[in-house]
Amino acid sequence: MANIAVVGTQWGDEGKGKIVDLYTEKSDIVARFQGGNNAGHTLVIKGKKTILHLIPSGILHDNKICIIGNGVVFDPAVFLQEIEELQEGNLLPPNTKLFISEKAHLIMPYHRSIDQARESRTAGKKIGTTGRGIGPAYEDKVARIGIRVGDLYEEDLFREKLRHNLEEKNFLLTNFFKEKSLDEKEITDQYLDYAQKIKSYVTDTSLILDHEIKQGKKVLFEGAQGSHLDIDHGTYPYVTSSNTVSANASCGSGIGPNIINKVVGICKAYTTRVGEGPFPTELKDDIGNHMQQVGQEFGATTGRKRRCGWLDMVLVRQSVRVSGINMLAITKLDVLTGLEKVKICVGYKSANGNFTHAAPASIKALSECQPVYEEFDGWKNDIRYAREMSELPANTRKFLKRLEELAEAKIILVSVGPGREETIVLEDPFLNK
Ligand code: IMP
Repeated sequence: MANIAVVGTQWGDEGKGKIVDLYTEKSDIVARFQGGNNAGHTLVIKGKKTILHLIPSGILHDNKICIIGNGVVFDPAVFLQEIEELQEGNLLPPNTKLFISEKAHLIMPYHRSIDQARESRTAGKKIGTTGRGIGPAYEDKVARIGIRVGDLYEEDLFREKLRHNLEEKNFLLTNFFKEKSLDEKEITDQYLDYAQKIKSYVTDTSLILDHEIKQGKKVLFEGAQGSHLDIDHGTYPYVTSSNTVSANASCGSGIGPNIINKVVGICKAYTTRVGEGPFPTELKDDIGNHMQQVGQEFGATTGRKRRCGWLDMVLVRQSVRVSGINMLAITKLDVLTGLEKVKICVGYKSANGNFTHAAPASIKALSECQPVYEEFDGWKNDIRYAREMSELPANTRKFLKRLEELAEAKIILVSVGPGREETIVLEDPFLNK
């Protein structure tokens, strides 16, 4: 039995939620290793729409262990609200356990204030963040002034760290950003209250993972966002502030890289992006509107309309390389149904006219790249009923075959609709190491 990491191959929103949910059923443990409540995963359970931003969706399955790893930035207010919603909806199964790493860094109110103030100030140069304080929380972690979940239980240390931070942040907020200062007592009381409420979940999650893995339990490492939002490998600076690639599954959860046997990349049959930044295959026409409308492409965290465009295999191939993806799950293929022609971007023509297979690191150079497409005949038949590859129209299979060739990774699942059953399963990634 294998342990797997699931990561996005594009700019996030690849439809990981459904696939993670399907794979959760086969796993014993689901671990999140990076990001925070900038992620969003919409689930419809018992007819009610629930959006989980922080808690792994494994929480909805019985007999699982869900882990919020050390690499996550943790907002206790969001966590408690999600727990409350799950309790109110009677959605928490009896035997599932949830743990938070004591080493995860806390998102503090000043992180949100700075994130939002910076975004509103840099008109024209926005990143388009989710405004949840993610970037500033990671900044403090690296600057070695962050406050960790475990610090909440050493009250003197917590108070001292908060005071030290607020001195600096309030100076920045009031003098530079011309925003309101934040109140030390209010934050102290609030966070010490959170500390008691989350106490039963907080522990050394690396030890739990190690123990369970030694018992032969199967782990699903759930990545948030996508490879091209990675702080190192993405379209910097239009990225998130963590490493979203599979290697961080190890670092962000406290296990060795050799524990992860397979990496499944989630690839949407077209491309979307929220926020700012270059997007070579973006379509600002009827086809882009078709993808946005039919695919219901709205950000789960901010509700923003997602920008849409053709499948860009330059991006996907790079993700396969940097994340060591050996298997691909293709999502939202049904959204392309009805289009006369469908296109795949196989390379870029750069400003000097040269053809390239690799995305340039320079944002300026990438913005000037023109996509080079291969065009395919579309398909009209509804594919949502297909459960075997042979039930797909010949044109759909041609599209998938070319995608697979270009990616140099095997397709093991094709999602043909939002429902769990609307899926063609070719291989179980948990089988065979
Ligand atoms: P931040 O993560 O809030 O700092 O936002 C940085 C960039 O990442 C922005 O372009 C966001 O729109 C994008 N982003 C963050 N989380 C997600 C996600 O879960 N899906 C898609 N884009 C995201």
